[in-house]
Amino acid sequence: MIIEPRMRGFICLTAHPKGCEQNVKNQIAYVKSKGKIEGAKRVLVIGASTGFGLASRITSAFGCDASTIGVFFEKPPTEGKTASPGWYNSAAFENEAEKAGLYAKSINGDAFSNEVKQQTIDLIKKDLGQIDLVIYSLASPVRTHPVTGVTHRSVLKPIGSTYTNKTVDFHTGKVTDISIAPCEGDDIENTVIVMGGEDWSMWMNALKDANLLANGATTVSYSYIGSSLTEAVYRKGTIGRAKDDMEATAFSITDSLKDIGGKAYVSVNKALVTQASSAIPVIPLYISLLYKTMKEKGTHEGCIEQIQRLYSQRLYSGNEVAVDDKGRIRIDDWELSDDVQEKVAKLWSQATTEALPDIGDLEGYRHDFHNLFGFGFEGVDYKVDTNEMVNVSSIE
Ligand code: NAI
Repeated sequence: MIIEPRMRGFICLTAHPKGCEQNVKNQIAYVKSKGKIEGAKRVLVIGASTGFGLASRITSAFGCDASTIGVFFEKPPTEGKTASPGWYNSAAFENEAEKAGLYAKSINGDAFSNEVKQQTIDLIKKDLGQIDLVIYSLASPVRTHPVTGVTHRSVLKPIGSTYTNKTVDFHTGKVTDISIAPCEGDDIENTVIVMGGEDWSMWMNALKDANLLANGATTVSYSYIGSSLTEAVYRKGTIGRAKDDMEATAFSITDSLKDIGGKAYVSVNKALVTQASSAIPVIPLYISLLYKTMKEKGTHEGCIEQIQRLYSQRLYSGNEVAVDDKGRIRIDDWELSDDVQEKVAKLWSQATTEALPDIGDLEGYRHDFHNLFGFGFEGVDYKVDTNEMVNVSSIE
């Protein structure tokens, strides 16, 4: 079929297998261009199919020569209907890993469930024995709790009072004011249950109880802080409470790994266009101003550049892992540098529908958004008939 983008708000209903393949190949080429990293050799990535998790899987495999198991929740294709992009990304990743002689297997299912944890445990026992690094990179709006069976939904809302600020519809470029009512009832609790640290901790306990964590095993989960411009809806909002909980969980996991000399880190990453971040109001405007500023300064990074730097200059630099006063690894350092933040704040005050094409990088935003779904890649012929029925070869 001829596959074209069909955008609906902050999602795209179609994905292009060849474009997703190109995306994965480009990321692999970047990691290879930076040279080998002396890192973990057996890696489990939970949330491995898109965004930071995919970049982590690629960096593990093609930077560290690691065997990888990827867990994700993606939609396979049906005749005439494309798969979700993470499916095609994973298919492409596994092909490339196989060509390079690297072990790669995937599990497609709900990572919050006991069943998927058990499936993963069985696979590790069968194939890898133990794991040296667990990357936890889930972003989900909903979680069915494995003990209570209750389905919780996260919300992206301010806490305490209504938040009004500018936002942009990145498809049309229209800048408007948006007012977001404060959370109510169980919103905070639900958001923490979905995006906080409990599931990360459940994974680590399950792996440890099954004796699947190697001595000195490390685990890393991803967090975000961001600027004062977005803090009401992000870091001081409901999602921020979940991130606080995730960051606190790192300490309790480290405690539980003491006897094997293991360690849990949270890495604070940069704001980037992913499926998860495009759903958050205000963030797309912030990102378009941030991209413009960081590209001008030459410090712009995408997911793969961020994660390659996390591995080569933080986790496996040969020195002790550098952390901030709250124990977090910071690869958002360039985003939060004073000069970048001052510039973005200045641009923010000037942002209107008319001014944005000049002062912001909306084109860059749209380009990255299209790329998430495999569209807009050089070297891909979008006019030719493409087979949507792609398999992930080693799906369990
Ligand atoms: P993403 O939407 O690109 O990736 C989410 C991944 O989770 C996908 O692999 C998806 O298949 C998987 N997933 C979702 N629900 C699942 C489930 N129930 N079972 C199994 N897999 C499931 O998200 P992104 O942006 O890469 O986010 C990953 C982490 O990075 C999150 O913790 C996020 O808060 C954090 N982060 C994101 C930033 C951004 O700007 N995008 C900035 C800093 C941190």
